[in-house]
Amino acid sequence: MPKVPVYYYSSVSNLTGRFAEHLAAVDGRPVFNLADAMVRRREAGGPWVLLTPSYKAGNADEVTLPAPVRSFLRSPMNRRRLIGIIGSGNRNFGVYYQAAARQLAQLSGRPVLFEFELSGTPEDVERCVEILDRLDAAVAAG
Ligand SMILES: Cc1cc2nc3c(=O)[nH]c(=O)nc-3n(C[C@H](O)[C@H](O)[C@H](O)COP(=O)(O)O)c2cc1C
Repeated sequence: MPKVPVYYYSSVSNLTGRFAEHLAAVDGRPVFNLADAMVRRREAGGPWVLLTPSYKAGNADEVTLPAPVRSFLRSPMNRRRLIGIIGSGNRNFGVYYQAAARQLAQLSGRPVLFEFELSGTPEDVERCVEILDRLDAAVAAG
C-alpha cells in the first residue's frame, strides 16, 4: 500500500526532525524536510501530511506557521493535497501549545492527526505510525 509522505519543518534544534526520522526508520514512511529549498520548490505529487513545530513563543503578534511551511503552502496544489497535520510543541507555551498545527487545521479544514511534545516518546512514534497506516488505507480505499 502506498505510504502518504510526511513533509516536515524542523529548526536547528531538530526535535521535529528526530521524530520524522523515527517515522522513516520504524515505518518506512517517506519524509521530506521543508528546510531544504529543493524540497520546498517541488510540489507534492499526491496526498501529503504536514508535520510542524510551533514558534509562537507566547506572543500573540508572532507569526504562527514557520516560514518554510508557509512557503510550501503558497502552492494551491499543495494546499489542495494536504490531508492532515501533525504538531510538535511544548506544553510550557500554555494556550499557544500546538498553535501552528491547530491554527492551520482551522484555516484549512484538515484534521490534526496527532500531537506530541519536543521529539516525542517511542510510544508517540508508535501511535503516530498506527494513525498514518490507517490514513494510508483510507487514501487507498478512495
Ligand atoms: C522560541 C520558541 C518558541 C516556541 N513557541 C511555541 C509555541 O508557541 N507553542 C508550542 O507548542 N511550542 C512552542 N515551542 C516549542 C517547539 O515548538 C518545540 O520545542 C518543537 O519540538 C521544536 O521543534 P524543532 O526543534 O524541530 O524546531 C517554542 C520553542 C521555542 C524555542
